[in-house]
Amino acid sequence: MKIVVIGGTGTIGSKIVEHFSKIHQVLVAGRSSKKYPIDIADTRSIKRLFKNIKKEQGKIDAIICAAGEAKWAPFKDLSETDYHIGLRSKLMGQVNVVRYGRKILKKRGSITLTTGVLADDPVYQTASAAMVNGAVHSFVQAAALEMKKKIRLNVVSSGVVIDAYDKYESYFPGHPPIEMDKMMHGYVRSVEGRGTGQVIRIYV
Ligand SMILES: NC(=O)c1ccc[n+]([C@@H]2O[C@H](COP(=O)([O-])OP(=O)(O)OC[C@H]3O[C@@H](n4cnc5c(N)ncnc54)[C@H](OP(=O)(O)O)[C@@H]3O)[C@@H](O)[C@H]2O)c1
Repeated sequence: MKIVVIGGTGTIGSKIVEHFSKIHQVLVAGRSSKKYPIDIADTRSIKRLFKNIKKEQGKIDAIICAAGEAKWAPFKDLSETDYHIGLRSKLMGQVNVVRYGRKILKKRGSITLTTGVLADDPVYQTASAAMVNGAVHSFVQAAALEMKKKIRLNVVSSGVVIDAYDKYESYFPGHPPIEMDKMMHGYVRSVEGRGTGQVIRIYV
């Protein structure tokens, strides 16, 4: 398979790249990539990357997005501008990856998005981050209904992964860290399985 991983240098993305590279061709994309640059908060950059990949590689089998930002702050301090960070990046960025990415996929190719446990179990300072995660879940379930025969679309929602636990532990009291191998099961299920419209939750 040919698989594009957006955010492939991140904590989650690098594990995805490591895993799928063993048996598939993986193209690693991100803002600082020289070969496959993309900023998902900028629609023109999404279109440009997919156009270039199609020209270089032809149609591909899968797109995984493990990128997307949202502002964390106490609810009382979140400004409208702060909310727009998550709306533009983690929500509309991923929606646009689906809108434009589907055009470069082979029939029954797949797109896998990434959210997180906050959608179902928010913690302090995550009104914006939890909101966009939940919106992505609803988007995936609804959009997949309309692309059933052509493209599969899923989202992986994991708890805090063990490789980021030092950074986030204090924000997630009592949340068990998720082993990286366990998190990977979600992406493998989405890319190599047959399911679509699924919110693949990996919380324990
Ligand atoms: N860490 C966790 O425990 C955890 C758990 C569940 C869900 N998540 C979610 O999973 C996603 C990835 O998390 P992570 O911990 O792996 O983050 P990370 O370590 O900060 O990595 C983010 C990756 O995405 C790329 N990126 C960031 N903004 C981008 C943009 N606007 N356009 C394109 N690429 C972009 C970064 O590379 P460049 O800077 O080069 O673009 C990097 O490769 C986030 O949405 C996060 O909320 C994380």
